[in-house]
Amino acid sequence: MKIGVIGTSWGLMHVGAFRAAGAEVAMLCGRDAHKTHEIARREGIPRATTDVSELCREVEAVVVASSDSMHHAHVLAALKAGRHVFCEKPLAMALQEANELVAAVPPSLRAVVGFPYRQLPPLIALRNWLASVAPAREVEVMLRSSFMMRTGSEGSGDFGGASHPIDAALWLTRSKPEWVQASLDGHALSLQVGLSSGARLTLSHRPTAEPGIHGSWALGGDGWEAGFFAGYQPALGGWRVSAPRAFIDGAWRDVASGVEPRPGEREPWAEAHVAAARIFLGGPGDLATFRDGAVVQSVLDAAARSQRFGQRVALE
Ligand SMILES: NC(=O)c1ccc[n+]([C@@H]2O[C@H](COP(=O)([O-])OP(=O)(O)OC[C@H]3O[C@@H](n4cnc5c(N)ncnc54)[C@H](OP(=O)(O)O)[C@@H]3O)[C@@H](O)[C@H]2O)c1
Repeated sequence: MKIGVIGTSWGLMHVGAFRAAGAEVAMLCGRDAHKTHEIARREGIPRATTDVSELCREVEAVVVASSDSMHHAHVLAALKAGRHVFCEKPLAMALQEANELVAAVPPSLRAVVGFPYRQLPPLIALRNWLASVAPAREVEVMLRSSFMMRTGSEGSGDFGGASHPIDAALWLTRSKPEWVQASLDGHALSLQVGLSSGARLTLSHRPTAEPGIHGSWALGGDGWEAGFFAGYQPALGGWRVSAPRAFIDGAWRDVASGVEPRPGEREPWAEAHVAAARIFLGGPGDLATFRDGAVVQSVLDAAARSQRFGQRVALE
């Protein structure tokens, strides 16, 4: 399949991933002509453009890895040209935009959102394990990160990355959000989400001086608990996900092995992108649909409203 990539920065992660998955990356699109041509030359991509419609005409599938504020326009351009779409997270800047994109996908086209937690082997194993025990009642995620939480038209549509753990929590527990209560204070975020499974998701983020992303996850239900660590650790050279551990029948045990950067192997987050590309190209596995992306956006949208009105917001 001929792939076109919009976005010359994080977009290069997808260039590598789709190539490793066996696809041909035929064209690269950016805003700055000189820079885009230079990067395409360096990366061995045959063609470069600043015209999104030209890219959409020339390829069979489009990876949208432009700035969050451009996802809506770029995804619509690709869908209107009849192209399959792989969109970076978050799907859009706002719920209304996300819903418009869901409605714009014809049944003949594949349209997915990149949420690579879904392709991390320890988490796939944990999700399968969770399906074998009583439903989770509590999901707690404590994120510390050095990433800025930007918002606004030139900024982030997901407080700088909150869509990742929100999707991961919904996916792990196979549930939908029912209500949201949030407190946003500068770069600190505190979010509670009532889940259709009966669980309560508590997600807190605080900015740290230490570089990277550091996430501690704890889940619990009747008769069991489980936990793992997941995050980007520059000192290790990439992502590390600890072995998920579970306490059940009176003892702790590993549910699966963890992953971390190892010499000579692809870094785990990059490997998750390759796995996502393989699934997009027709392999088995679980990618987030646009509807899943819009559900995440509904949580982010409700979080902003909850903050504004100082109360819990029910989701439809
Ligand atoms: N999954 C992950 O772990 C992960 C990590 C990082 C980022 N992301 C997501 O990936 C996306 C890109 O992030 P980034 O950090 O690469 O952002 P960025 O540094 O702001 O780069 C945005 C890219 O989009 C291009 N672009 C912007 N407007 C355009 C337009 N109108 N037409 C054509 N190209 C346009 C820019 O081109 P110019 O440079 O020429 O202006 C640039 O190449 C974001 O949605 C972000 O949330 C995901």
